[in-house]
Amino acid sequence: MSRLAGRRVVLGVSGGIASYKSCVVARRLTEAGAQVDVVLSAAAAEFVGPVTFEALTGRPVVTSLWQPGRALDHVRLGRESELIVVAPATAHLLARVAQGLADDFLTTLLVARRAPLLLCPAMNDQMYAHPETRANLALLASRGVRLLGPDAGPLALGEGEGPGRMVEPEVIVAHAERLLRSAAPWEGRRVLVTAGPTREPLDPVRVVSNRSSGRMGFALARAAWLRGAEVTLVSGPTALEPPPGPDVVRVESTADMAAAVAAALPLADVLLMAAAPADYRPAAPLARKARRGEGALTLALEPTADILADTRARRKQDAIAVGFALESHDLLASATAKLKAKRLDLVVANDAGAPGSGPEAVTNRVTLVSAAGAEALPLQSKDDAAEAILDRVQVLLSRRG
Ligand code: CTP
Repeated sequence: MSRLAGRRVVLGVSGGIASYKSCVVARRLTEAGAQVDVVLSAAAAEFVGPVTFEALTGRPVVTSLWQPGRALDHVRLGRESELIVVAPATAHLLARVAQGLADDFLTTLLVARRAPLLLCPAMNDQMYAHPETRANLALLASRGVRLLGPDAGPLALGEGEGPGRMVEPEVIVAHAERLLRSAAPWEGRRVLVTAGPTREPLDPVRVVSNRSSGRMGFALARAAWLRGAEVTLVSGPTALEPPPGPDVVRVESTADMAAAVAAALPLADVLLMAAAPADYRPAAPLARKARRGEGALTLALEPTADILADTRARRKQDAIAVGFALESHDLLASATAKLKAKRLDLVVANDAGAPGSGPEAVTNRVTLVSAAGAEALPLQSKDDAAEAILDRVQVLLSRRG
């Protein structure tokens, strides 16, 4: 899906070793459909050649103010771009931007810009900590320039003691996408997402759980954040990397998940309850590990709380509530029953037995069930399914104003 189709982005690269990672930033933005114009400082071109970026973006790369045929391009790009990302932004680049210097193509373009500017500082940790760099960063922030990073972690010269390392390309791309896509009705809205399974202890080492991977909930959290929402992702145990952006609250049991949901609920404008909380828990967990030699073990299970149903009376007025239904039979009838019983705006119904669908799959074939009827969506990636679900929620949010 080309989420950034036709969007115009300038990627400025200044001369730090992290510029090798900027190739990935250029590539990912291009893959998302953006038209990416890469501008290299003279020092950056010493690290990574223009031909590399040209091949990755399919567009000519600017390295100098004096390139024939590009005499006014600094003004044109400054006017036409919708977002300018500089990654890496070295200490020297930060100083030049803070002073409004215009002594090469990149800094001249920045002085001519209209678009928002996202700077991703990267340098030795001592240089980042230096009072002059700090002052430049504070000045830039006070003027509305967005700063992303740096992270703490391994630097070109040894292990840094403090931040200095450029944030990872995927994180830069996510922030760039959010800056480009943030819009009504998502901007400023709070979205609460639940994801993954929960685990209920049977004894100190064993749990009762289910096959949920958390992928659908993580995809929803990421997609809502990219549209500009403030997202809280309450997740049971999963092996997934959390998406950049959302606040992630890790929980273990259904009771833990219920408590985390209750804490975020009063402010939530949208609930996307994609988790598969354990519906039952051992009624009397054993204090000591059960041993096989002790013979057969019979488990008594008791129901846990229904987190989503329990939010009914405590949701913010006009909050949009979306439930998920994983069914092995009577899919539509039971999704429709859930719509009413849990007082939902939308149920995303999922056939547990369908090929390419279900808790462990990376794809999903879902049917969106609302009071207006049912719409079956094609088999697609969980990321694309998340976008389709949010398109529906967006219509509901816009109507509520
Ligand atoms: N859910 C929840 N708390 C639970 C169980 C489910 O909040 N303890 C939510 C899920 O996140 C999902 C929706 O309720 O959004 C439907 O889950 P499902 O297990 O299909 O619903 P149940 O009502 O438990 O279904 P059934 O009675 O058919 O088992």
